[in-house]
Amino acid sequence: MDMISKIAGLIGEELKKNFPEAQGLPDTETIRGLLEVPPDTEMGDYAFPCFRLAKALRMAPPKIAQTLSDGWQHEETASAKAVNGYLNFFLNRVNFATQTLDAVLKAGENYGSSDEGNGKTVCLDYSSINIAKRFHIGHLSTTMIGHSLKRIYDFLGYRTVGINHLGDWGTQFGKMICAFKKWGTEAEVEQGGVEELTRLYVRFHEEAEKNPELEDEGRAWFKKIEDGDEEALRIFNWFKDLTLRDTARIYDLLGVTFDSYAGESFYNDKMDRVIDELREKNLLTVSEGASIVDLTEDKMPPCLILKKDGATLYATRDLAAAIYRHDTYHFTKCLYVVAYQQDLHFRQFFRVLEKMGYEWAKDCVHVAFGMISFEGETLSTRKGTVVYLEDLLKQAQEKALKIIEEKSPNLENKETVARQVGIGAVIYTDLSNSRIKDIDFRWDRAMNFDGESGPYVQYTHARCCSLLRKAEELDLPQMNPEVLTNDEAQQLLRLISRFPDVVREAADKYEPFMITRAVTDIAQAYNRFYYEHRILDDDLAGTAARVALTKATKNVIRTGLYLIGIEAPERM
Ligand code: ARG
Repeated sequence: MDMISKIAGLIGEELKKNFPEAQGLPDTETIRGLLEVPPDTEMGDYAFPCFRLAKALRMAPPKIAQTLSDGWQHEETASAKAVNGYLNFFLNRVNFATQTLDAVLKAGENYGSSDEGNGKTVCLDYSSINIAKRFHIGHLSTTMIGHSLKRIYDFLGYRTVGINHLGDWGTQFGKMICAFKKWGTEAEVEQGGVEELTRLYVRFHEEAEKNPELEDEGRAWFKKIEDGDEEALRIFNWFKDLTLRDTARIYDLLGVTFDSYAGESFYNDKMDRVIDELREKNLLTVSEGASIVDLTEDKMPPCLILKKDGATLYATRDLAAAIYRHDTYHFTKCLYVVAYQQDLHFRQFFRVLEKMGYEWAKDCVHVAFGMISFEGETLSTRKGTVVYLEDLLKQAQEKALKIIEEKSPNLENKETVARQVGIGAVIYTDLSNSRIKDIDFRWDRAMNFDGESGPYVQYTHARCCSLLRKAEELDLPQMNPEVLTNDEAQQLLRLISRFPDVVREAADKYEPFMITRAVTDIAQAYNRFYYEHRILDDDLAGTAARVALTKATKNVIRTGLYLIGIEAPERM
């Protein structure tokens, strides 16, 4: 049990003891939630506000605080002092250090994990790329937030299903086949991959401006895909393979994986059921030839289900997909990691699920995120300011390699470390802020080894590893925890002890950045400790304690980085 829970438990006991008649006293969990960290450590490590108890106890808050502090005899945990209606706690620093280190070192890299998920399933829809489009940095957030949340939920004992809901349906694919038949060759497309497909698609639009009949030809090819025409399907599936082959390289670099690639076309034969159901439940109305679900009552525009020509839409496929996922995986939660621009789409289709009577609609969550710009410039295909992810990751590795060549010319496996550091810098930047905030990617910030960055945290981890390697050569006695009662060590211990709470909160709020923040704070606190106190010195019992703290720090940073999808090299 951690120190906060212990204090909360003791407060609960004291309340019962001092006020045996009182009704409606808070339970330990509630007390834990009420505990605050005072603005100033002089005032204590934690504070319990007594104001909320005044009614139940019919007593003024300062009096309650005084009563509790008078009877307080748990100095092995913390001493207590009443101040202005607060009960301020000063941790027993030695015990706090021993217990925190014990908890971390026992759990190792599992520190912070739990079995709260108890096998329940969370579906995560992330990355969800469109076929024949190149992966650019606008796709980074959905990919990395989703991947991180998957790891976080796994860590908390959930079963997770990572789904790449491919955008593999729509008239554009008919146009692409048409363009390929007219101007493409198999060899060029094989060679150029998605880039070549994009070129053909752009050409189609240029030519179609002069020659509008092309549009009909494109539509005809799409109709062929829909009707299962052999040639059309063969070409289309080939385009799909090419795209997946291109993106697989990026996913490999990022370490991102999926359990399912069931995309929009997967639901072709699952849509009739949804449409029939909507009709049976009297939810479908015809408006200007199209079939819609009216959402006027919900103050939203209608949800489009079928176009005039009977074609299904994005929302129709998402309805089918949600139902399929629920039937197949029995999820407790289905997360959609998609840009906030699609907010209306998700509100609409979640509402339609609700109207269909699916009570689990409440378990579907749009995990929205903001935009990413690059060096102050918004991305636009038209202006030619798109930054392709593959290029960005390549540059990141080159920049990292250059820095490593300068800083540690003798390092082994420089290329591997450069990959870990370069990619880590990119991922860190992406997950360094609350997800709804827009991000401006800047090289100087991402690669700043001294600032708040991926390399900085990785470097701190490598520093810990290096100290631990040296410590292995020493014959260390039982540790003396007294050397960990100084402010620097205590601040570090406090951050470490909070890590399990951070993981849980990151899951609850779908905010990987909370973990980014936590590992950064821990790295900074460790470095402050490191500069103030020699880790390895002649006092071996003290050294043993500082080494234990170093090991705990290393474990937590490593786990935290893992949870946000960043590797932690042992040498840098
Ligand atoms: N492919 C879509 C896009 O790029 C994102 C799909 C998100 N997932 C979903 N189930 N709608 O806009």
